[in-house]
Amino acid sequence: MRTILLGPPGAGKGTQASRIVDAHGVPHISTGDILRANVKAGTSLGAEAKRFMDAGELVPDEVIIGMVGERLAEPDAQGGFLFDGFPRTVPQAEALDEVLVTRGVPLDAVLELVVDHEEVVRRLTGRRTCAGCGRIFHLVYDPPSTEGRCDDCDGELQQRADDREEVVRNRLEVYREQTEPLVAFYEARGQLRRIDAQGEVQDVTDRVLAVLQEAAGTATS
Ligand code: AP5
Repeated sequence: MRTILLGPPGAGKGTQASRIVDAHGVPHISTGDILRANVKAGTSLGAEAKRFMDAGELVPDEVIIGMVGERLAEPDAQGGFLFDGFPRTVPQAEALDEVLVTRGVPLDAVLELVVDHEEVVRRLTGRRTCAGCGRIFHLVYDPPSTEGRCDDCDGELQQRADDREEVVRNRLEVYREQTEPLVAFYEARGQLRRIDAQGEVQDVTDRVLAVLQEAAGTATS
């Protein structure tokens, strides 16, 4: 399975990705997670990316394309992948095309998670992420059993620096300007599948898995 999860910040890409990879056994490649790991480790890539991330702006294409190229060369990505947060611009999508053409493999599906933008603001300002295992919670929609601690590993729950409301609104604007054109890009090729990403997390997962099953059927028929 070679799939892209597309959608605005807070659409639930990370939440759904962890459930999809459980069901399909492919690596979840989140460019946001890779960048945050680099920031935490104090690498030069992290230092370069941090100022863009904290402001809710996109990290330059050449940085992202190089980083994803390296990730795709790793052994676990040879049998497929689920991208979360990549591609985010047309040049990134074109760079991915080149990699897939070189490998002689097609993209199976691009899933667009559709959510109202005010709902996104509610979701992101209430998001908390476990510093230990990365599990995602929400103060209202998916609260931990013990305040401030992860249900899985008892790690500390933290708020992302870019989840403050003013940064979230800028990220949405950046999405409209630079990432939304990808909807038309993939729609023109017949690869785009829209999914209503509002409602209960499990209901959204059921919709996503049904669409993936349908896409797999189309690819083999
Ligand atoms: P990244 O980490 O990719 O952030 P994002 O795309 O903005 O997406 P989020 O992680 O904020 O949201 P999500 O859709 O994963 O939602 P989640 O599942 O967590 O990127 C961060 C930054 O890195 C970018 O701003 C940029 O600077 C840089 N970057 C990354 N990739 C790049 C690229 N390719 N090019 C250039 N720059 C790049 O859910 C959100 C909350 O909602 C959670 O609390 C969750 O519990 C809750 N929730 C989820 N589903 C539901 C539901 N159905 N109902 C109620 N609550 C729900």
